[in-house]
Parts: sequence; structure tokens; C-alpha cells
Amino acid sequence: MVRAAGKHTSARLVLICVGLLGIALIADFLWASSSSSRFALIGANWAPPVSLLTPITIPNKGVDSQKNNTTTGRVLSATFADLPAPELKWEKMAAAPVPRLDGAAMQIKNLLYVFAGYGTIDYVHSHVDIYNFSDNTWGGRFDMPKEMAHSHLGMVTDGRYIYIVNGQYGPQCRGPTSHTFTLDTETKKWQNMPPLPVPRYAPATQLWRGRLHVMGGSKENRHTPAVDHWSLAVKDGKALEKEWRTEVPIPKGGPHRASIVYNDRLYVMGGQEGDFMAKPGSPIFKCSRRNEVVYGDVYMLDDEMKWKVLPPMPKPDSHIEFAWALVDNSVIIVGGTTEKHPITKKMVLVGEMFQFNFDTLNWSVIGKLPFRVKTTLVGFWKGWLYFTSGQRDKGPEDPAPKKVIGELWRTKLNLGS
Ligand SMILES: *[C@@H]1O[C@H](CO)[C@@H](O)[C@H](O)[C@H]1NC(C)=O
Ligand SMILES: *[C@@H]1O[C@H](CO)[C@@H](O)[C@H](O)[C@H]1NC(C)=O
Ligand SMILES: *[C@@H]1O[C@H](CO)[C@@H](O)[C@H](O)[C@H]1NC(C)=O
Ligand SMILES: *[C@@H]1O[C@H](CO)[C@@H](O)[C@H](O)[C@H]1NC(C)=O
Repeated sequence: MVRAAGKHTSARLVLICVGLLGIALIADFLWASSSSSRFALIGANWAPPVSLLTPITIPNKGVDSQKNNTTTGRVLSATFADLPAPELKWEKMAAAPVPRLDGAAMQIKNLLYVFAGYGTIDYVHSHVDIYNFSDNTWGGRFDMPKEMAHSHLGMVTDGRYIYIVNGQYGPQCRGPTSHTFTLDTETKKWQNMPPLPVPRYAPATQLWRGRLHVMGGSKENRHTPAVDHWSLAVKDGKALEKEWRTEVPIPKGGPHRASIVYNDRLYVMGGQEGDFMAKPGSPIFKCSRRNEVVYGDVYMLDDEMKWKVLPPMPKPDSHIEFAWALVDNSVIIVGGTTEKHPITKKMVLVGEMFQFNFDTLNWSVIGKLPFRVKTTLVGFWKGWLYFTSGQRDKGPEDPAPKKVIGELWRTKLNLGS
């Protein structure tokens, strides 16, 4: 099942060209005016040069016949991309104090620390909320440092200290910064660490073999995928080196991936290339939509220090950097975004939960969520899988993003085998 990564360099060149082409093909991205739908995508009738990009598997076989129906005016059944999944019993818990999109979360024992995020496209949070799995309550709010980014963070914990690689500073589609921080969750004290060599936006971030690894993400313009990979020796919330070390570049760049360490191996899963950018000249850095390609690739680094390609996710999945939990010998990933709708070109959210077994390298679809949702923040405690925050769909018939939520849901995992 494991084969070496190789043929990616020429694909990267093609992607750079396509990225430039994308800049010439800007579709205005309009934010709906009502507050509950501030993140809704409308007016996206621009057809991107999909055929030029990396191969995409569109999970539906009936697209052609649906196309015919569109031309005759029928409203599409936009649920085409949902995968068959077992029904699960979901319990709605106390909502987070604020709704959040593109926030971050770290679980330490029975506490889920939930950071930052957009409240609306024009307002970002600058504080931490804590959920206590033992008594199922929210509390313990405290402020983030003023210089810390508000979304698209890279973050990882060693069980006490949280290492934070900065993402986007401010609302709308502002750019990324290079600041890094640590938080001691016992004393609630923040410290600076050496900045990244250059700013990154939503890079995959993990601790592996005593080093903080930062991989991929988007470059300063928010759209161009970066393949750089750096690491820094850290211990007990402190950097042991002054400068980041350059490591083996990741085969495919881009933001919004899950990054996991299991059994001394480093995994990177899903993500995308391309993202919204600030509209040129806009004083508020107004978001405008650019071409983006979502993928389900899985890469792994071990002793050989060569990226290996593992079986891909059941479907392309992005916006999953904090949407996962380790459970036994597997990782469970909750929701996300998948390839855009082939006809309407609208963003399509994911309504399933996936499991990857690290021993068999096998993916399975383990359940349906209460709705489709992206950028969930996930925790696992005493058999319960929890998710909170993110942006949910318009409804069962429409998988496009709409409301930013603070809701918290849980389900008792019964993985049987
Ligand atoms: C068009 O949609 C209708 C209603 O879903 C369906 O019954 C019909 O088979 C579709 N036609 C084509 C050509 O797919
Ligand atoms: C759908 O449209 C294509 C071309 O537009 C045509 O070749 C095909 O026969 C149509 N299919 C149906 C089921 O009407
Ligand atoms: C979490 O809840 C448990 C049970 O009520 C309590 O003992 C513990 O102190 C709480 N932890 C925090 C950090 O509030
Ligand atoms: C992989 O998972 C599928 C279900 O998704 C199952 O049918 C198959 O037996 C599994 N294979 C292995 C090797 O575990």
C-alpha cells in the first residue's frame, strides 16, 4: 500500500501556472447581508479551469444527467456528494459562548481549549474559551496576546504547553503573519518563540521527535500553495534553537489539512490548494473567491525522512486542521469541505465522519453528522466524540455553507471491531 512520492514536482509547476491563471479569473465573492448568512456564497457562476488541475474524483456518477436537468430548469439535488453513512444518535450540548469559523482547538485531558476564529466575516475573536468534558460546561475565558492571529492558526500541544504558529491577522481576507507563541495551560502564560522564516497561512503543524514541524499552508497572498517544511527543537514550551531548520518539502502544498502523529510517524491528510484572496485595492481586504482544489491525499513521514503516499480519504476533504481526534489505533475526522459542486460551482460541505486505521491503512465512513459542517473543533472523552463551531450547510437539500455556529454536539462512539 505504501509507495514513494515522486511525480509531484511537475504537477507543482502546472499548479503554479494555474494559480496565476486563477488570478486572472476572479469571480466576485459576495457576502450575503443578513447576519446568519454572512458567509454564504452567492453569485459564484464562474467556471474554473478544473480540467487543468490535478485529477479530481467527483464522487457522483450521475452528474451528466443532472446537467441536462439543470438546463431544463430543475433545481439540482445538491446532495450529490454525500456518501452513504450509518445514522448516529447525536446529542446537542451547551453551545460555545460565541460562534466561530476557522478557529482552533486543543484538547488537554478533560478540557477543550477553543481559540480565536471569525464571529462574522468582519469580526474576529481574540480570546480562548474552555469546555470541561467532566461537567459539560463552558468557562475559563481568557485573552490571547494582541499580536496573535485570529484565524488559520497552526497549533499543537504536548499535553501542557500549546505551540502556536500564526495564521491570518484580522477579519475578511487579510494576510498571514510569522509570529509564533506558546501557551502554558497551567499558568495561562504566553511566550514568544522565533518567528517563521516567512509568514504562512493555515500550515499543517505538529510535534514530532522533539521538534515543532510546520508544513505547507498558503503563502502571503493567501492563495498560492507553499510546500516548505520547517522544524524547530522545542521542550516544555520553549524553543531550544534560534532558527527554524529547513526540512524535506511536502509533496503537495496548501492550507487546511489535518496533521497527526501516531506511533512515531507524522501524517498529513486532506487540504486544498488555493483559497479566497483580498480583492486588489480593497481597504478592508474584502474576500474574493479564487479557484481552489480540494484533495484527499494522505502523506506520511517516518525514519526514512521521505514522504510516502498512503490511501486517500474517502473523498477530498479540507478545513479539517482541528476536526480530528485520535481514538485507539485510528484517527476520526469530522466534516470539512469537499470538491465544489460541478455545476453550481458552490462550495460543498461534508456531512460524514471518516476513520483511518493506522494499522490497516484503511479508511471507512463511520457515520452521518447532524448536518454538513466545516472547520469543526473536535474532542474525544470517555467514549464520546464531540464537535463544536464551524460553518454549517443551508439545509439537507443544499450543502453550500451558511450559518457560523457555536453549537456543540456529541455522539457515543461504538466502533465495534
Ligand atoms: C431529472 O430529474 C428528475 C427528478 O429528480 C429525474 O426523475 C429524472 O430522471 C432526471 N432526468 C435526467 C435526464 O437525469
Ligand atoms: C444530456 O445532454 C447531453 C448533451 O447535452 C446529451 O448528449 C445526452 O443525451 C443528454 N442525456 C439525457 C439523459 O437527456
Ligand atoms: C471540570 O469539571 C470537574 C467536575 O465538575 C471539576 O472537578 C474540575 O475542577 C473542572 N475543571 C476545570 C478546569 O474547571
Ligand atoms: C476496510 O474497510 C472496509 C469498509 O470501509 C471493509 O469492508 C474492509 O474489509 C476493510 N479492509 C481491511 C483490510 O480492514
